[in-house]
Amino acid sequence: MRRTHTCEELNETHVGSEVVLMGWVQRRRDHGGVIFVDLRDRDGLTQVVFNPTENKEVHAKAHEIRSEYVLGVRGRVDKRPEGMTNPKMVTGMIEIMVSDLKILNQAKTPPFMIEDSIDVSENVRLQHRHIDLRRPNIQKNIILRHKASVSIREYLNSQGFLDIETPFLTKSTPEGARDYLVPSRVNQGNFYALPQSPQLFKQLLMMSGFDRYYQIVRCFRDEDLRADRQPEFTQIDMEMSFIGEEDIMAVSEGMVAKLFKDVLDIDLKTPFPRMTYDDAIEKYGLDKPDLRFGLELTDISDIVKNAKFKVFSNAVKKGGIVKALNAKGCSSFTRKELDDFGDFVTVYRAKGLAWVKVKDDGDWQSPIAKFFTDEEKQAMVKQINMEPGDVVFFGADQPKIVNEALGHLRNHLGEKLGLINKDEFNFVWITLFPLLEYDETEKRYQALHHPFTSPVEEDYDKLASDPLSVKSRAYDLVLNGSEIGGGSIRIHDKDLQVKALEALGLEKEDYEKKFGFLLTALESGAPPHGGLAFGFDRLVMILCGQPSIRDIIPFPKTQKASCLLTDAPSPAGRLQLEDLGLKIITDK
Ligand code: AMO
Ligand code: AMP
Repeated sequence: MRRTHTCEELNETHVGSEVVLMGWVQRRRDHGGVIFVDLRDRDGLTQVVFNPTENKEVHAKAHEIRSEYVLGVRGRVDKRPEGMTNPKMVTGMIEIMVSDLKILNQAKTPPFMIEDSIDVSENVRLQHRHIDLRRPNIQKNIILRHKASVSIREYLNSQGFLDIETPFLTKSTPEGARDYLVPSRVNQGNFYALPQSPQLFKQLLMMSGFDRYYQIVRCFRDEDLRADRQPEFTQIDMEMSFIGEEDIMAVSEGMVAKLFKDVLDIDLKTPFPRMTYDDAIEKYGLDKPDLRFGLELTDISDIVKNAKFKVFSNAVKKGGIVKALNAKGCSSFTRKELDDFGDFVTVYRAKGLAWVKVKDDGDWQSPIAKFFTDEEKQAMVKQINMEPGDVVFFGADQPKIVNEALGHLRNHLGEKLGLINKDEFNFVWITLFPLLEYDETEKRYQALHHPFTSPVEEDYDKLASDPLSVKSRAYDLVLNGSEIGGGSIRIHDKDLQVKALEALGLEKEDYEKKFGFLLTALESGAPPHGGLAFGFDRLVMILCGQPSIRDIIPFPKTQKASCLLTDAPSPAGRLQLEDLGLKIITDK
């Protein structure tokens, strides 16, 4: 028996012909003697019919069939009788009258139905992922992922990019997360690090003269997992020589525009708008603003710096800020809702969330109203555009805390108030990031992007004297409030690279040990270069309209970085550990 068609291929034009279909049993119905089976494969469903008047033996055998059995059927394509057609099914006008049945394999009763709307925990689905992956929606996602990958490759190939592989067993690459380490057996006591990205290799490839590189490549980061983060994820990684920001943005926009056209048949408007990092933080509190709705933040530090309300005035005196978020027309929020918003912002380390409701007569209803003079109130009304029916939220603290808390509250309100048009794809480039930030917990400077990002030329001199004021040539692409890609123009001058590493507080011995190979390469004739990496999973997640990247990754890990299907990670055997010269010292 050899398959002639797939389960979504047949229609009325095939009526009368003999065909062979193979697939899984989606459903079996026994209608008083006649047995109907919906046979499923990757493409869809076809109804196959076992009728005792057509073939007694085959009909008898069909009684053995259960859900998820794998069948081969030979039969005649019949037009379905009047009243039996199903216009919702692509093959709903026909059915196969079976003359020969082969049960290719039996199946145990599946732990859940192979349908989209099932009520099963994600853990159960991940445990039986090979079965979960049979469900139509997940199949659609995985197939869309393939189409996206094809579209991207076509585009980059057409633009002269070369697909070049880089090692997985390598040295630590600083993207800011923890490394996954792999112990070496041959060199006991030494470890490879799995790459957090191919960053340094792609830069070396530019120095080797390959000019335009890309790779759709796995990256590994041991970090706290969220809905849009996996420990291993895929980047569309690219790098170009002899270019500036404009070139990389143009290539990226071309790639994304083709991708949306190919996969969703949507025409995106390019070039995408741009916004500086400072503007994004000022207006939206986050460097990945969701611009599908308004609700901008307003800085009122100047107005309240001497206010009687100490929470505000002290924050400003200590170098902090006070910002407001006006939820227009939302004064009907209940006390409970207001308290919930207060709880919501504590996740972002905010110590509280003050609020003011503007009553119909313009009066303020608020626990903090009494602390402000009429002048202060009037100035706030004007600056924040406070009108009757509004409720305004306030955050007072160090800038990072206020911006993060109100920025996330803004997104939360956007969702809750239904301000977000789910059909919109809103892209924005964020530019001119600070080169460094100060890490309060580690008490040292950290690269905001990575240590190979070039500062803007006017700020070279400030690297040693005023590092926090130095702007970088980094850029992120943000889509609907999600960072889908990031990159930069790199440093291609050895002395500048050394200065940048020193600004991070690294000693000569440190940076030579970690990045000596890069510094040597920079002295061998390094072209100006730059690049970008897209988070492929995040892009596909948005293209599929899914809330989690686990839905578009065939075999994802859980929040605890484990694979429930294979039970990884798992303990290593004693001999394996001995081979590697390792001893487990914690017992869990
Ligand atoms: P960056 O660290 O910004 O840059 O990563 C690029 C993009 O990868 C995606 N991403 C992730 N997706 C899923 N799970 C994760 N854990 C995860 N971490 C990051 C994001 C992000 O925008 N080497 C540089 C790029 C460059 O400079 O060219 C880099 O890796 O969408
Ligand atoms: P308290 O003075 O603690 O009674 O707080 C009065 C109001 O100010 C409450 O609604 C608090 O939620 C709010 N609040 C306290 N700390 C802050 C802060 N850092 N930023 C904004 N609001 C605050």
